[in-house]
Amino acid sequence: MYNSKIAGLGFYVPEHVVTNDDLSKVIDTSDEWIQERTGIMERRYVEGDEDTTTTMGVKAARIAIERSGIDKDEIDFIVFATLSPDYYFPGPGVLVQRDLGLRTVGAVDVRNQCSGFVYGISLADQYIKTGMYKNILVIGSELHSKGLDMTTRGRGVSVIFGDGAGAAVLTREENPEKGILSSHLHSEGQHAEELSLIAPGMGKRWVLDILKDNDPEDTSYYPYMNGQFVFKNAVVRFSEVIMEGLTKNHLQPSDIDMLIPHQANLRISQFIQKKFGLSDDQVYNNIMKYGNTTAASIPIALTEAWEKGKIKDGDLVVLAAFGSGFTWGSVIIRW
Ligand code: ACO
Repeated sequence: MYNSKIAGLGFYVPEHVVTNDDLSKVIDTSDEWIQERTGIMERRYVEGDEDTTTTMGVKAARIAIERSGIDKDEIDFIVFATLSPDYYFPGPGVLVQRDLGLRTVGAVDVRNQCSGFVYGISLADQYIKTGMYKNILVIGSELHSKGLDMTTRGRGVSVIFGDGAGAAVLTREENPEKGILSSHLHSEGQHAEELSLIAPGMGKRWVLDILKDNDPEDTSYYPYMNGQFVFKNAVVRFSEVIMEGLTKNHLQPSDIDMLIPHQANLRISQFIQKKFGLSDDQVYNNIMKYGNTTAASIPIALTEAWEKGKIKDGDLVVLAAFGSGFTWGSVIIRW
């Protein structure tokens, strides 16, 4: 058995900045409401055809691969996490294989929304642990802006999301005390519809049904979120899964050097920080600048924290996410 470690990180966000004031010109909302409830000040949107979920992922991946010092021909496997794939099928993993000109390595797409990157890292870690693969590219990328209900009807959801991508290259770590120590994954499908996009779904309500019905009140192809219910579950599950990871490794909250929570809502991060008695230096947040970028939020935040020198050799880094499914998880890393 080997451990795996993160050898390279990268992120990409579109240049176009959309402020809360910009949004309040098209929907009935305000900078004050959005900042007070979510902490978000601005987010990035892809303009026109400049990018897709895949191309953003590829841009982040190029940086991560370069920083890893691993040749792209040495990448053995691709994991791509997103809820906003370019095509209904095939998934974006194969598009990355093509666009980066990788060998004909395996590519898997992870459909776990906000927990997607944590699930992806866990998956990659298992392959490396067993020795099946040595170097794995894990991408989280999301293009929300083209699929949001940008009317007052959709304001509870639409103000939260932004576009962007992050990537990590995982490689074998020979030291058993370093790298990814453990990962912890959960789901509770009983609440699947509380945070969901129901249509188009091949088995239930496909595009042709939507077109045929031509119902202006049909919102099934927009994301739906029971915000308060999600919030209440998020704070409980975040706390549980972080503690689960720490306990498994005989660690305490005070041992955390850097917690990278999924950037769902600044209030959720602040709740967790307070609950575990962590200082501002022990938790990294950037939702203020990018909004909630779902599967991309953890790799973007992790990369930024690393670029700012906030993660050092030997640090205990904890990744934690909760989101649609419900799914949630944590990853405990000795950097
Ligand atoms: N601007 C102004 N008013 C608004 C807006 C808006 N953008 N959105 C909703 N409101 C109004 C509502 O209409 C409601 O008005 P009413 O009281 O007159 O009926 C009032 O504000 C309160 O609405 P709530 O939905 O109850 O607002 P809440 O305080 O719950 O905040 C929020 C909403 C920010 C979405 C919060 O519930 C939240 O962050 N939830 C968790 C999000 C999350 O963690 N998601 C998981 C990740 S996402 C993923 O996995 C895809």
